[in-house]
Amino acid sequence: MSKVALITGITGQDGAYLAEYLIKKGYIVHGIKRRSSMFNTDRIDHLYQDPHVENRNLILHYGDLTDSLNLTRIIGEIQPDEIYNLAAMSHVKVSFDTPEYTANADGLGVLRILEAVRLLNLIPKTRIYQASTSELYGLVQEVPQKETTPFYPRSPYAVAKLYGYWITVNYREAYKMHASNGILFNESPLRGETFVTRKVTRAVSRIALGMQKKVYMGNLSSKRDWGHAKDYVRAMYAILQQDEPSDYVIATGITTTIRDFLRMAFAEIGVEIIFKGENVNEVAVLNYIDEKVFIERVGEVYLDNFRKRIGDEVVGVDPQYFRPTEVDLLIGDATKARTRLGWEPKYDLASLIEDMMLNDIKLMKKESYLKEGGYEVLNYFE
Ligand code: GDD
Repeated sequence: MSKVALITGITGQDGAYLAEYLIKKGYIVHGIKRRSSMFNTDRIDHLYQDPHVENRNLILHYGDLTDSLNLTRIIGEIQPDEIYNLAAMSHVKVSFDTPEYTANADGLGVLRILEAVRLLNLIPKTRIYQASTSELYGLVQEVPQKETTPFYPRSPYAVAKLYGYWITVNYREAYKMHASNGILFNESPLRGETFVTRKVTRAVSRIALGMQKKVYMGNLSSKRDWGHAKDYVRAMYAILQQDEPSDYVIATGITTTIRDFLRMAFAEIGVEIIFKGENVNEVAVLNYIDEKVFIERVGEVYLDNFRKRIGDEVVGVDPQYFRPTEVDLLIGDATKARTRLGWEPKYDLASLIEDMMLNDIKLMKKESYLKEGGYEVLNYFE
């Protein structure tokens, strides 16, 4: 008999990678997605099966973490062996604009799932993974951050996730649930367009193709520990296969500034940028092109136009992207995951950026082609 998994947030980056991973392992995967007037299943369209197909291994349900009746009904109907709670309002900056909704979905949403499992008498059967986050460390109290590092959340998002973390621990201790937290550091590349890594790789691709002149960023000095979501979903799965539930940091142990991420993304297409000025007046200028690499990665037809842009400003700072309270530095220590789960990441930052850039150059070429055909290209950078 196949195992049954339920993934909330299946249409997000991690949900899509995890669904693919579990299906390959022979699971029947159920996913919860929110109703939207637009299609929002791009990331899992390659896995989608028509409801008329027999023995489907991917089944989608409408639902929302703010609706306990809906969650309880779905969990009761499918009786999952494993629940991965990946759904959340996950944008840190947006959480300052929608703090109440964020608390409801990201905080109370976790409680609703735990309570549903308890009330349905599924505690002996169902294991629960809660997507906790490195944002819990916020104003970091220790470097690097590990499972025992005290939390200091710095946004409504992180405060809501703090509740989610502790209610998971509490239900584990109170009701002997197999419920675990994965404290994940940032990951990419099916990333939403408004998170910094994806915003950069999209913008660099568009600048290379002549679709955009410049990108405006927020705080260039903050540092993040970026890994690949493909590596991280393996850790989620491994956490639920342990005999004992527990909490784990999942990270690469390397931290990089946003400024250096920009340098590396441009370097991927053979371009050197130089940063000048300070604070809101900081800019980056195109300094040099390695034409051989540019031709190989972007294409010869784009080179002449790009050459003319040497000396142009391609990065600027716009304070609207600053956060009222910032998380300056995150770097994780995943020793516990490495030793207990045998987990090792396969990607480093360079291979992650390469993967993202290749993907975005291809995607942006398609977008620019559609534009030439008369379609408007939406500019939805945030
Ligand atoms: N989004 C964004 N846009 N961030 C920018 C920009 C910009 O233009 N310029 C600088 N940054 C900085 C932010 O101020 C922050 O310090 C850093 O880049 C990373 O921002 P995000 O990519 O938005 O991610 P995050 O670290 O705030 O949160 C993400 O990762 C967490 C896991 O560590 C989210 O995915 C969270 O949901 C997740 O928990």
